[in-house]
Amino acid sequence: MTPSPTRKSRPIRRKRSAGTSSLLIVHASELVTLRGAPRPRKGEEAGDIGLIEDGAVYAEGERIVDVGTTSEVLVRHPRAEVRIDASGNLVLPGFVDAHTHAVFAGSREREVEWKAQGLTYSQIAARGGGILQTVRATRAASEEELARTTANRLESMLAFGTTSVEVKSGYGLRTVDEVKMLRAAGTAGNLSGLDVVPTFLGAHAIPPEFATRSERYVDMVAGEMLDAVAANHAASFCDVFVDEGYFSADQGRRILKKARARGLIPKVHADQLAETGGAALAAEVRAASADHLIHPTADGIDAMARSGVVGVLLPAASLTSNLPFADGRRLVAAGVPLALGTDFNPNCWCESIQLAIALACHHNGLLPAQAIVAATVNAAHAVGRGTEIGTLEPGKVADILLLQIPSYRHLGYRIGGNAVRAVVKRGRVRVGPSSVE
Ligand code: NIG
Ligand code: FE
Repeated sequence: MTPSPTRKSRPIRRKRSAGTSSLLIVHASELVTLRGAPRPRKGEEAGDIGLIEDGAVYAEGERIVDVGTTSEVLVRHPRAEVRIDASGNLVLPGFVDAHTHAVFAGSREREVEWKAQGLTYSQIAARGGGILQTVRATRAASEEELARTTANRLESMLAFGTTSVEVKSGYGLRTVDEVKMLRAAGTAGNLSGLDVVPTFLGAHAIPPEFATRSERYVDMVAGEMLDAVAANHAASFCDVFVDEGYFSADQGRRILKKARARGLIPKVHADQLAETGGAALAAEVRAASADHLIHPTADGIDAMARSGVVGVLLPAASLTSNLPFADGRRLVAAGVPLALGTDFNPNCWCESIQLAIALACHHNGLLPAQAIVAATVNAAHAVGRGTEIGTLEPGKVADILLLQIPSYRHLGYRIGGNAVRAVVKRGRVRVGPSSVE
């Protein structure tokens, strides 16, 4: 949906003045605050979006100062340098994309034809496509080139309303190239203005030079690679692709225990292609999240619920690899808090978290309110930023979206478009109409 060029009845007004810039958004038809206790939402609370009708937000500099109904906020903060009339709009926190592989070189469009001919993810990998093809291209790319292409992708995500994004390495599979990818992710964050949360995923696949020596490769990931990542402060999290044909739960345990000792928080690609104990491992190592969860066992789900591991659902990845969709309704019923991600990667070129939300409602069994919680506050917790982002509350970073839709339910309803009218990143209007008075 393209915002109309003239918007005289609902202008963005900007006054120039010295000092801290201030921003006032008024008359949001629905203001989705996501306010509440600072923890991932689950069970009965899984759909608590903290809705305010005719809502307003006031921010100074990078931070939110006041949130409430328009009349309440205007009494306390009648003026601001930038004032946006959000009549007819849904206003909510910037989306947090909890799982991407946005740094890579090359592309894999040829695989679409193989998928159309019925090849599976594993068959495509066996044919020389898949992760290892992207590894070849990424090893050959410079850090500058990776940073530039990744920044372009992040800006595209911003246009769809994503203001913070987790980005994994995993296409280097050599110490120098894994560190190169993580540094490129950080630079791409600076270039694009999005907040990037870097995750080390050295255990994404066994590289060809270790094809017959997978244990040796695990030794290297848990040793030299983790040492280099920690020494460079290059990542906050460490992830392992625990799945059939990739890494076993034992290998994952070995890497993630070392990661924890190096100050990195574990994450697990869990049970995407087959049940291989990923969900249970995530609970055992107290991972921040277990992601994909297409084939978890009942015991794995219960263990996750008991340990408070966030489940990250990635419906766009199921769509592009013709895999089943994770049973989100079952996970919510079991008391697992859920987050969402696009899983943007060369096999799933999806920059739109809005599409992931709609797919989650249509295929993972989430209610629209649950999908919004999953793409904001719970995603923020899944990437360790729950105290900073993911809700519209005083003190939080002023990452705010104006969507050109009348109600939050349209987020689960509309598929494939872009409802964004404006994106505010750290208090600054980054995307939106140019009508400035
Ligand atoms: O999350 N599942 C493993 N990793 C990615 C896919 C990576 C690729 O195919 O390049 C995922 O879907
Ligand atoms: Fe992934």
